Amino acid sequence: MKTAVLVSGGGTNLQAIIDAKARGEMPNTEIALVLSSNKSAYALERAKTNGIPTAVVHRRREEDAPSYGERLLKCLKENSIELIALAGFLTILPPNVVSAYDHRILNIHPSLIPAFSGKGYYGLRVHEEALKRGVKISGATVHFVNEIPDGGEIIAQKAVEVLEGDTPEILQRRIMEQAEWVIFPRAIEQVAEGSTRNQ
Ligand code: GRF
Repeated sequence: MKTAVLVSGGGTNLQAIIDAKARGEMPNTEIALVLSSNKSAYALERAKTNGIPTAVVHRRREEDAPSYGERLLKCLKENSIELIALAGFLTILPPNVVSAYDHRILNIHPSLIPAFSGKGYYGLRVHEEALKRGVKISGATVHFVNEIPDGGEIIAQKAVEVLEGDTPEILQRRIMEQAEWVIFPRAIEQVAEGSTRNQ
């Protein structure tokens, strides 16, 4: 499956996907494009280092969602993209993109959905709220993207312990290392494998 990884920032999840692919763990997944909403995302450097084609599609301030969606779709079509992995993509995906790729868009969220998810729950805020609530277990979730923020069908989850003295930053890092970087490449491959088999 020709897969695009959509990013806006550091790209550690992208790196985990690249590494899993290099280890031979993603035979049905081709990382065909890294698309960033932001031209200075470090994730673009990671893609270039690994010879992966890149594109930047930034949402202009005056641009409405359908027009931005059209530009994203054009770029995805030009690269023959079949599957999309959102790996820290901070721009809301327009509805025309979501409907064009029904059950073909995966997102990684840094909590056990439905806890600490939905509108406004991204970045450190997720972990701040988890610590505030005093949960003893958090984790990560991979889910399909539909029109509801963090509301699509769940594909994979992994729990991670919250420890005494955790700060949001420490918890964020532990969840990335123990959950996100493990389950995201696996879930992408699982969807790619299933779709390849059904073709
Ligand atoms: C991760 O915490 C992920 O769960 C969230 O955005 C962050 C992306 O980090 N969706 P990175 O760019 O992959 O390092």
